[in-house]
Amino acid sequence: MVSFNTQQLARATLISAALFQSATAVANITEDSYFYGQSPPVYPSPPQPGSASWATAYAKAVALVSQMTLEEKANITVGYTPMTGCSGETGSVPRLNWPGVCLSDAGNGLRATDFVNGWPSGVHVGAAWNRNLAYQRALHMGGEFKKKGVNVALGPVVGPLGRVAEGGRNWEGISNDPYLCGALAAESVSGIQTAGVMTSVKHYIGNEQETNRVPDGDVAAVSSNIDDKTLHELYLWPFTDAVHAGTGSIMCSYNRINNSYACQNSKTLNGILKTELGFEGFVVSDWGAQHTGLDSALAGLDVVMPESTYWGVNGGNLTIAVNNGSLTEARVTDMATRLISAWYQMGQDVDFPEKGIGMALDYSTPHTPIYARDPSSQTVLLNGALEGHVLVKNTNSALPLKSPKLLSIFGYDAVAPNKMDVPSPSDVIATWTFGFESLLTYVPFISTTAPPQIAINGTIISGGGSGANAPAYISAPFDAIKEQAYLDGTSLFWDFYDNDPAIDTSSDACLVFINAFATEGSDRIGLHDDYSDALIQNVAANCSNTIVTIHNAGVRLVDQWIDHPNITAVIFAHLPGQDSGRALVQLLYGYQSFSGKLPYTVAKNESDYVNAGEPILPEGEFQLFPQDNFTEGVYIDYRGFDQKNVTPRYEFGFGLTYTTFEYSELTIEKLAGVSTSYLPPPADVIEGGIASLWDVVAQVTATITNTGSVDAAEIAQLYVGIPGGPVRQLRGFSKVDIPVGSNVTVEFDLLRRDLSEWGVTEQSWVLQSGSYPIYVGASSRDLPLVGTLTI
Ligand code: NOJ
Repeated sequence: MVSFNTQQLARATLISAALFQSATAVANITEDSYFYGQSPPVYPSPPQPGSASWATAYAKAVALVSQMTLEEKANITVGYTPMTGCSGETGSVPRLNWPGVCLSDAGNGLRATDFVNGWPSGVHVGAAWNRNLAYQRALHMGGEFKKKGVNVALGPVVGPLGRVAEGGRNWEGISNDPYLCGALAAESVSGIQTAGVMTSVKHYIGNEQETNRVPDGDVAAVSSNIDDKTLHELYLWPFTDAVHAGTGSIMCSYNRINNSYACQNSKTLNGILKTELGFEGFVVSDWGAQHTGLDSALAGLDVVMPESTYWGVNGGNLTIAVNNGSLTEARVTDMATRLISAWYQMGQDVDFPEKGIGMALDYSTPHTPIYARDPSSQTVLLNGALEGHVLVKNTNSALPLKSPKLLSIFGYDAVAPNKMDVPSPSDVIATWTFGFESLLTYVPFISTTAPPQIAINGTIISGGGSGANAPAYISAPFDAIKEQAYLDGTSLFWDFYDNDPAIDTSSDACLVFINAFATEGSDRIGLHDDYSDALIQNVAANCSNTIVTIHNAGVRLVDQWIDHPNITAVIFAHLPGQDSGRALVQLLYGYQSFSGKLPYTVAKNESDYVNAGEPILPEGEFQLFPQDNFTEGVYIDYRGFDQKNVTPRYEFGFGLTYTTFEYSELTIEKLAGVSTSYLPPPADVIEGGIASLWDVVAQVTATITNTGSVDAAEIAQLYVGIPGGPVRQLRGFSKVDIPVGSNVTVEFDLLRRDLSEWGVTEQSWVLQSGSYPIYVGASSRDLPLVGTLTI
């Protein structure tokens, strides 16, 4: 939770407004585009549409809200200090039996409680590229939230999108490609909401770094200055998918967008979310992200967490504002209606458990145990963990392991976290205290001054902060390897704490485990660390079959040692959740083939990324109002590498399996009756925008043959070159199981939105006529099938 000095904030807001007035005079803020740094006013706030699939819930909400007094409506828009373990609770209306809602973190599992599972994190879901698995994970996870009486799950995360490679929260998100992120976020929304729990998709919008994410004294939060085209084509894209999937809530973020705080930005809330995207649900503030009273109400904020200084106790200041004519009662009615519609839409009026049941504020006090883990979740947890592992190097058939006689295991990340006093490499973690706070909330480290690059006291299964989950147990790599060694009669040798360990020369293989840690609240200080790199190099110097596994909460560079001839295999194991070790052993021993692919680019050098190493810091004359101009436009990650012709170490979409695949027979068919030009708003807006954006305008097929010697899954990817845009952009993917010697035909539907660009002049999506190169293949740089779609 964040606490603020409200007087300072009020002042900062006023100064911010003044700065905004003079911003046009300041060349380095505005020169890249007239749009940078300016957020146009969009009023009034559109009432909930209540259309189509929301009509019944909306009608019920209107009926209930019409019986409420102004005071009762205002009261349910603000948070109250919860008496349970909920992250937040709204007010209630006992007179009408409306209980209010409990909101809890997060997108990777319910945290701060017992009897729940620790699920794979967002980046792991991204690395699996599996729509159905993303849905199943969300459905099972959502069931746990419901059993604990949590009405709103605070996730999934689609922002940050990963613009800043060091971003402390990139791992909570799915991918820095908006198409992959949006597709899997939509499945996550559907899964959680099918379980009867609303999603609050976050953080809207431009929340790309932790540095200066919130105001600090006189310094305002960073302003993400994003031009209109980039906003639509990149950062808004996955939110659009989430709205299209029917999310009940969106969380506005801490940062400012074009110099206006996200929770009082009328352009992004009233204009884009509630008008353009036809959003039906309610906007909730991130915790402490509200900075004005009337302005935020007028700009489209509906619910404030965890309480509201500005709207006052019981939302009393909203009542005053209505009574003195500053705010219409209709706006307050809309806030209440949006919240209660979402509650009805998820069926929470029928048999929903008591808010936060079994989630004690303090778990060491007596509380009713609520067993939220469902036995049927086991397979989903294991598959979820399995599929997010990405194999990037495998020489001399190092993997799979074949009943080794002696395996040597090294590295701090091989074992479950503990409080052991381990040697502290001063350059990495000297200023950090260890604190593993039991499984109730998985916190591998507690910050004292600076973020650590690694979590040295044990393996990581999630990152840190509010997205950390509460695993029921942790299967660490060493735990699972011991079980397998027992079955195979393998001898094990281990040393987890020495970073230049002695090596038994009879080892069949040396497995080295390291991690790359990241947490909410701070950005990473680098993309690789010297301590772990030295460990790997030291082992490789004396072991000719060195296999490296990295549990990485974001990008981790490998160029310090990747070409070492003794390093035979490398795995990006990401953040698998509680079944980490169990899943890894399935892969290491070839019970399953690897099937994950990178949801981001691994560069050779940090400087190859847009803004790597430079989360914006306040400096110079603007230190009170940090400005971050997104001048690279849509060219983040592989879009930027392609544009600048920079060769990455491992490209976006890359990953090895234990077999080989061949691509053939590309077909491209344009469907009849496709008209070009732009779609004039506000034509036929459904959830997510203009309905015809979801029309299929072309279909592409390709055949994939498993030409190797084991059954495996392949992730086929389709990229399009939209005229005038990036060299290529992901616009389709399909993960298919293909038995040895068989082939499968994959089909991709290209929607109107997939081929359109945002027209700044038209203020709508434009489908241009012209030639669209179509590429199908195994990664963003391995695209054997090429054709052209003519529109
Ligand atoms: C702040 C975080 O930014 C957000 O993601 C989380 O849901 C809230 N805190 C509540 O814990």
